[in-house]
Amino acid sequence: MNQVMYINQTCLPENYSTYFFVDLYTNFPETFIVAEEDGKVVGYIMCRIESGFSGLSLIKRGHVISIAVLPAYRRRGIGEALLKEALNAMVTYYGVKECYLEVRVSNTPAINLYKKMGFKIERTIWRYYADGENAYLMRVKLA
Ligand SMILES: CC(C)(COP(=O)(O)OP(=O)(O)OC[C@H]1O[C@@H](n2cnc3c(N)ncnc32)[C@H](O)[C@@H]1OP(=O)(O)O)[C@@H](O)C(=O)NCCC(=O)NCCS
Repeated sequence: MNQVMYINQTCLPENYSTYFFVDLYTNFPETFIVAEEDGKVVGYIMCRIESGFSGLSLIKRGHVISIAVLPAYRRRGIGEALLKEALNAMVTYYGVKECYLEVRVSNTPAINLYKKMGFKIERTIWRYYADGENAYLMRVKLA
């Protein structure tokens, strides 16, 4: 968990308590995935499974909470592999029908990755981040 928290702190301004990481791992272990190289963790993805209404039916949704790859290991398909694994696990283990996430409107690498995996921009969330930046809410149907 320390290695995951280190990558989170190195790569993103959104940082969390140890409890937050452990809680996600404890509740949704199948969608808490790390990428390793030479025995070292170089990337991670962590997600939450939520229930909500889609029209009149109650469905399960995956929510990507955080994904990051150490700078020296980027552009080699690791982020894509982590996201693919997590989306597969959402369907296989948790019966999820769709997945959504928030991303900074300026974060072109991440937006491109999500588009590549089928996510579409649904709307803008005004001043979603602590520094005032807007987020795109992006969603993909699964299964
Ligand atoms: C976003 C992130 C996880 C991508 O990880 P990665 O391992 O470099 O991604 P991949 O090599 O699997 O790339 C997959 C696709 O993402 C897109 N992409 C990744 N990096 C990109 C860049 N620098 N510029 C443009 N598109 C990029 C491309 O579409 C790429 O597909 P392609 O290689 O066929 O062009 C990584 O850049 C990162 O850790 N960023 C900092 C943390 C962050 O912003 N997380 C997201 C918060 S919402």
